[in-house]
Amino acid sequence: SVDVSSLTRQTGHTALDYGFVNTAATKSAITFIDGDAGILRYRGYPIEQLAKNSTYLEVAWLLIYGELPTSSQLEEFDNNIRRHTLLHEDLKRFFSALPHTAHPMSVLSSAVSALSTYYENQSDPHNPEHVELNTIRMLAKLPVIAAYAHKKSKGQAFLYPDNSLSFVDNFLKLNFGVLSEPYEVNPVMSRALERLLILHEDHEQNASTSTVRLVGSTGANQFSSISAGISALYGPLHGGANEAVLDMLRQIRESGESVQRFVERVKSKEDGVKLMGFGHRVYKNYDPRARLVKESADEVLTELGVSDPLLDLAKELEEIALHDDYFVERRLYPNVDFYTGVIYKAMGFPTRMFTVLFAIGRLPGWLAQWREAVSDPQTKIGRPQQLYIGAPRRDYPGAV
Ligand code: ACO
Repeated sequence: SVDVSSLTRQTGHTALDYGFVNTAATKSAITFIDGDAGILRYRGYPIEQLAKNSTYLEVAWLLIYGELPTSSQLEEFDNNIRRHTLLHEDLKRFFSALPHTAHPMSVLSSAVSALSTYYENQSDPHNPEHVELNTIRMLAKLPVIAAYAHKKSKGQAFLYPDNSLSFVDNFLKLNFGVLSEPYEVNPVMSRALERLLILHEDHEQNASTSTVRLVGSTGANQFSSISAGISALYGPLHGGANEAVLDMLRQIRESGESVQRFVERVKSKEDGVKLMGFGHRVYKNYDPRARLVKESADEVLTELGVSDPLLDLAKELEEIALHDDYFVERRLYPNVDFYTGVIYKAMGFPTRMFTVLFAIGRLPGWLAQWREAVSDPQTKIGRPQQLYIGAPRRDYPGAV
C-alpha cells in the first residue's frame, strides 16, 4: 500500500531494486564481464593475456586512455609517475597524529582526502590539465601513502621513494626496505605482485567504483571521489574480503574445527558465518581472476620457498564447497579474494595491508571510470529514488 504517485516524476516508472541487482546506472566502454561464462576483458583484451604479458602501468594507461600505449607513451607515463612520488613533508607528519593501531585502510582514505588539500587550486574536474596532473599524482602517491601506513603500523621509519626502481619494485622497497640498509628486490615477488595488481585494476560497476562515480557526479574532484571509493572498498563484503578470508582460515586452524564442520555452520546460517572469498554478484560460474590467482599461489609459494598450511586449508574448503549442493545451487564459487591473501602473506605483508593492496590495484580503474563519467554529457548527479514507508502526515504536539 505504498503511494508511488510522487515517484513517477521523470520516467513514469520507479523500480525498487535493493543492491541495484537489475539496474544499470551508466554506459561504459572500459570493462566487459560475462558472469555466466566467467569472462573479464579490459577494453576488449582478455584478462588472462594482460596478466601474463603486461605491466600494471601499461594496463593503467589502457584503462584510462582506451588503447595500449606506444613504447614512448608508456615511457613518458612511467617517468612522469616517478617524478611525482614525493609527499609534502607536512603530509608525512599527518601520519603521526594517528594511533599506530589504526587500520591501514582508514589511514589510506584519510590521507588521500588530506592529499587533496595541497592541490585545491588544481582540482577542477572540468580542466583537462588538472585532471591529467591529478591522475599522475594519484598513481604516484597512493603506493607511497600505502607503504607509510604499513611502516606506521610497525613503528618503522618512512623511506623516500627510490625513483630508479620500477613502480612495483619501488613499492616493495618502501614497504620492506629499512633505512640506511640496502634492499634487494626479489624478482619472483615483484612479478607476482605486478600480476595481482593487474588482476584488480578494474571490475566495471562494483560497489567502490560506483561510489567513485556517484561522488564524481556531484562535481567532487578526483581525490574526494577516490577517498570515498577506498572507504567503500574497506567493507568485508567487498575488498575487505581478502583480509576476512585469512582471518577465517586462521580461526578454523586455531580452533581445531574440521573444515566439514565449518562448512555445515556456514550452510546453517545460524550464526551468520559466511564462507568469505566465495560468491559474487556477477560471476555465477568461476571468477576468472580467482583461477589465475590460484595458479599463482602454488607457483609463488614454491618459488619463495614458503609452505603455508593455510593454502592447503583453502584448497580443502574449496573442494568441499564445489561439491556441496548448498554452494552449487546458489552458484557460489571462489572470487578473487579467496587465494590472494595467502600470496600476500607469503610476501610478508600483514593481513591488515591486504585490502590496501587491492586499493592500489583498483586505482587505475577508479581513475578511468571517474574520467569516463565526468566527460560523459549524459552524466547526471546520482540520486536514487525511495519508496516512503514511514508515518503519514501528523501534527507536532501543541502546533494546532
Ligand atoms: N557464504 C555462504 N553463503 C553465501 C555466500 C557465502 N560467501 N555468498 C552468498 N551466499 C548465499 C546467500 O546467503 C544467499 O542464500 P539464500 O538464497 O539462501 O538467501 C545466496 O547465497 C545469494 O547470495 P546474495 O547475498 O543474495 O548474493 P549477492 O550477490 O547479494 O552478494 C556477495 C554477493 C556480497 C559477494 C556474497 O556472495 C558474499 O557476501 N560473499 C562473501 C564476501 C566476499 O567474498 N566478498 C568479496 C566479493 S568479490 C569483491 O568484491 C572483490
